[in-house]
Amino acid sequence: MRQVLKWAVAAIAASCITASLPFAVGHADDAASPIFGVTIPAGYRDWKLIAPGEEIGLDELRSVLGNATAVKAYQDGAAQFPDGTVLVKLAWKRKPVAGLKGAFVTGPATTVQVMVKDSARYASTGGWGFGRFIDGKPVDAAQHETCFACHQAHASDYDFVFTRYAH
Ligand code: HEC
Repeated sequence: MRQVLKWAVAAIAASCITASLPFAVGHADDAASPIFGVTIPAGYRDWKLIAPGEEIGLDELRSVLGNATAVKAYQDGAAQFPDGTVLVKLAWKRKPVAGLKGAFVTGPATTVQVMVKDSARYASTGGWGFGRFIDGKPVDAAQHETCFACHQAHASDYDFVFTRYAH
């Protein structure tokens, strides 16, 4: 009996915590990121290139792609991205080209990262929801807790987005 009571109390406590979170929590859906409930958007691989990137420490090549809303905001020179903006950052290991010193092509994919603008749903994180995926699966909550902190600390001058449109 005591055990049953303990479970009941734990269940009620858990549902209270969930209800008090500032944004909707992803459903029991293992394709959605923890905390934000962001998924990999369908068809993103055919979206337009915003800019390429590189991360020397991780030895990665990167590309940021945007949906039509993102591309329009960049091209209009908007200071803020409207709701519905989705940015996807793809990353690959750098693979040296044999026999050509200093030349690289993309090797295996490492992460897919997603930012979705929904100013009401993600009000407490600058209007952005975040998702980081490895092999199509979201990484843990601890990693998702770091996303906004870094974007806020270093990209607050451009609506928490680092990447500029590469002309
Ligand atoms: C320590 C700092 C840091 C953390 C933590 C971080 N980012 Fe970023 N993020 C960057 C930098 C720097 C760029 C731009 C350069 C690049 O492409 O790496 C970037 C770019 C992005 C972009 C492309 C749009 C943009 O802002 O340029 C997305 C999408 C993104 N990050 C998602 C995420 C997600 C999801 C997480 C958490 C799981 C995360 N980031 C955590 C530093 C960070």
